[in-house]
Amino acid sequence: MTPGSKERKSMNTKPIIVAPSVLASDFSQLGAECTRMEKAGADWLHMDIMDGHFVDNISFGSGVVQAIAKRVTVPLDTHLMVERPDHFYPRFLPYSSNITIHIEPSYDVEKTLSDIRSAGATAGLALSPKTPFERVEPLLGKIDLLLVMTVNPGFGGQAFIREMMTKVKRAAELREKLGLDFHIEVDGGIHPDTALISRESGANVMVAGTGVFNAPDASEAIKALRGN
Ligand code: DX5
Ligand code: ZN
Repeated sequence: MTPGSKERKSMNTKPIIVAPSVLASDFSQLGAECTRMEKAGADWLHMDIMDGHFVDNISFGSGVVQAIAKRVTVPLDTHLMVERPDHFYPRFLPYSSNITIHIEPSYDVEKTLSDIRSAGATAGLALSPKTPFERVEPLLGKIDLLLVMTVNPGFGGQAFIREMMTKVKRAAELREKLGLDFHIEVDGGIHPDTALISRESGANVMVAGTGVFNAPDASEAIKALRGN
């Protein structure tokens, strides 16, 4: 910076993190796929856990997450798309740096967030596209990460819902106003163009499945999502 110049004020106060979602990997080569992402510069690996109830798909369970944790050194970011996050989170806890739970199912969300933190992981809260932002507002002081879903949870390869940027902007504004420090993560349809929109809106964690695993060069794809 030249003397007297002012750094442009950005909504993003945190470094950009890229978290490839292994849901888009070749499951027959899972270990090699995770190593490939680690070598390509992934900051975290994103684990999409689906129970066939909360979403209309079944992905993989804690045994798979355990095996991945043994293989890589990057933190694992576990996204629980399950009907009973309070019942299932302990199975993933030993292998996850962060556990994100959805606000929509019926269970004690606040207690589960607190229990995840007490157990030594960071706690994320996710909201699906149809869920109004107001539902998560009272819990913003109790989380380490807010996951704004940019597609309906359940499947990879869907189109980014741009209207979700209203929630990202609101989260960034409230974080600043309330003096909080949570990450803002976007998940679904993240490619270089939608990552740019997300970063400009205030998101700092980019989850990408097909955009990274199916790219001709994963390292270039990760750089593009990071914006360099
Ligand atoms: C959707 C999952 C996403 C998904 C993203 O339910 O939470 O993490 O794998 O996949 P892409 O990047 O292909 O939209
Ligand atoms: Zn996810």
